[in-house]
Amino acid sequence: MTVLPYKEQDASKKEQVAQMFDNVSHKYDFLNHLLSGGIDILWRKKAIKLLKKAQPKTILDIATGTGDFAIEALALKPDKIVGVDISEGMLSFGREKIKKLGMDSVITLEKGDSERLHFEDNTFDAVIVSFGVRNFENLEKGLTDMCRVMKTGGTCIVLEFSKPQGFPMKQLYNFYFKNILPTVGKIVSKDTSAYTYLYDSVQAFPEGSDFIKIFQRAGFNNTQCLPLTFGISTIYIGRK
Ligand SMILES: C[S@@+](CC[C@H](N)C(=O)[O-])C[C@H]1O[C@@H](n2cnc3c(N)ncnc32)[C@H](O)[C@@H]1O
Repeated sequence: MTVLPYKEQDASKKEQVAQMFDNVSHKYDFLNHLLSGGIDILWRKKAIKLLKKAQPKTILDIATGTGDFAIEALALKPDKIVGVDISEGMLSFGREKIKKLGMDSVITLEKGDSERLHFEDNTFDAVIVSFGVRNFENLEKGLTDMCRVMKTGGTCIVLEFSKPQGFPMKQLYNFYFKNILPTVGKIVSKDTSAYTYLYDSVQAFPEGSDFIKIFQRAGFNNTQCLPLTFGISTIYIGRK
């Protein structure tokens, strides 16, 4: 079942997702760090560290949003990072941040759809995506195109929400994600649906071995799955 941000609209999931992120872009970073207690920063750092050995020189950050994962990837000292996203609103906040950091010669942000990437086959040493794949209209198509543009021998890192299973984390998480997070998200962002969509989309998203099956069908091999913080998030690693 497809989870849509605005159930009352006829627009496609992709159009609705782009509209939703345009709507919340002005508060996205603030809400991200507030609602996660800053742990999202640690998760991104941990995910990027997994690429340290591979030392990728060219990196594609899919669903880059305001560029936080791309900025974190600067720790790898690559020559070039390209971020793509379908939301112009998110990209413009990202470009401002990157310019302030003086990193616009290394990171460029471009409008682009991960299900139809505008890059040649085998272009990047690494492809990374944080909290993006859950929003794809067609998950397998998006992952397949990510694999296509990655060089043979390259590494793909996917960081995405998952659901904690054990007591009492499962219960605490459900209460927080279902009640507190949508209420605060709605008040601060003024978008009535975005943070309800967050809970619903995480519930419906394949995780662990279910995600790995789709990841492998998309062309990735040597896959691994690393749950973080009681399973609230998971890092998936795939090679080509
Ligand atoms: C939750 S944000 C994540 C942003 C950033 N990666 C981060 O870690 O903060 C999800 C992003 O995915 C983007 N997105 C969703 N579907 C996409 C697609 N098909 N192609 C490119 N970007 C997409 C949205 O526009 C949004 O900016």
